[in-house]
Amino acid sequence: MTAYQTILPNQVTTWFRAGRTDQFPVGAGATIKYGQRQIAVFYFNRTQRWYACQNLCPHKLENVLGRGLIGEQDGVPKVACPLHKRTFSLETGENLNGDCPPVAVFPVRIEGGDVYVGFID
Ligand code: FES
Repeated sequence: MTAYQTILPNQVTTWFRAGRTDQFPVGAGATIKYGQRQIAVFYFNRTQRWYACQNLCPHKLENVLGRGLIGEQDGVPKVACPLHKRTFSLETGENLNGDCPPVAVFPVRIEGGDVYVGFID
């Protein structure tokens, strides 16, 4: 199984072009592949911010987070797993409503209408 690790913006060595901004849904998630890894990418239209996390939900190890509902909890952007509603912060990856391990989160950069996700390899 592929391991996922949170990447901070200052750690990025590779900005992977995930597609054009208009190829992503508004106020929802989409899934991209980076090598063997599946990454969920989210666009919050109210704040016009982008986030990315592993698509793999740590609860039952299903690749589903890109299909989750997004929202905010106390100002923290979050995604709810579509299967059993565990929610994860898209800023830190922390599980906000239970004791699941965190998800890995990745920096997202928008440049020239393109979406880039940051990795370290
Ligand atoms: S698989 Fe995601 S909450 Fe259960």
